[in-house]
Amino acid sequence: MKLRVLVGCEFSGVMRQAFRDLGHDAWSCDLLPAEDVSPFHLQCDVRDVLADGWTLAIFHPPCTHLAVSGARWFKDKVREQTEALAFVRLLLAAPVPHIVLENPVSVISSRIRKPNQIIQPWQHGHGETKATCLWLVNLPPLVPSNVVAGREGRVWKMPPSPDRWRERSRTFPGVAAAMAEQWGDYCARAELVPRGAENGANTNKEGIANERRRQYGGCSKRDGVDSEGGDGPGR
Ligand SMILES: C[S@@+](CC[C@H](N)C(=O)[O-])C[C@H]1O[C@@H](n2cnc3c(N)ncnc32)[C@H](O)[C@@H]1O
Repeated sequence: MKLRVLVGCEFSGVMRQAFRDLGHDAWSCDLLPAEDVSPFHLQCDVRDVLADGWTLAIFHPPCTHLAVSGARWFKDKVREQTEALAFVRLLLAAPVPHIVLENPVSVISSRIRKPNQIIQPWQHGHGETKATCLWLVNLPPLVPSNVVAGREGRVWKMPPSPDRWRERSRTFPGVAAAMAEQWGDYCARAELVPRGAENGANTNKEGIANERRRQYGGCSKRDGVDSEGGDGPGR
């Protein structure tokens, strides 16, 4: 079954392509143009396309004001962090049946909720360490697809350069392939069952959206949200 997949906050196209390789109707969306100049990229604010009928949404919001690695600057960035958290809440409350939001170890855990799982690139074919937290909505945890040796934190050792943030934030292809394979299958099967029929929950989109707003503190589109906060995109 072909799914409509939104990969929000992605300029690289790595995740979008992994889903397209399996035949899904996947689109990336970012304020920046697509690095691979794909026609399946929406260069716009992801908040403007959340309600466009997606089955699965994968979000990579900026972690500049959220990652605990930047904790020493938190006290000077209260407004930016509040806005970044509002952005995350809005994405988690999107009217999409299946959602994953990824970020490094961040204040999302203490301010919104703990992640459902923490994955590593070495679990999916890349001999590197980079703890990545996943907040899942209606999705099972990702199963390691190819555990390999090597525990080098390569991305953090890159020399300073204007494009360093791009390399550090780029999705690992092995992780993208595992998500496309496992969650593509899962969502396709789930979509064959009338939504909510298995547990008597809300079966309509409005009901799902209302439930999410209750769960995540409810913010409507663009409620005090600024996309990047002024530090430039990146991690
Ligand atoms: C940490 S990077 C994620 C990169 C991603 N893993 C990839 O492989 O392309 C965060 C991205 O979010 C984008 N972004 C920030 N605010 C956005 C918004 N409101 N709508 C769409 N994209 C946004 C930035 O331009 C940046 O490219």
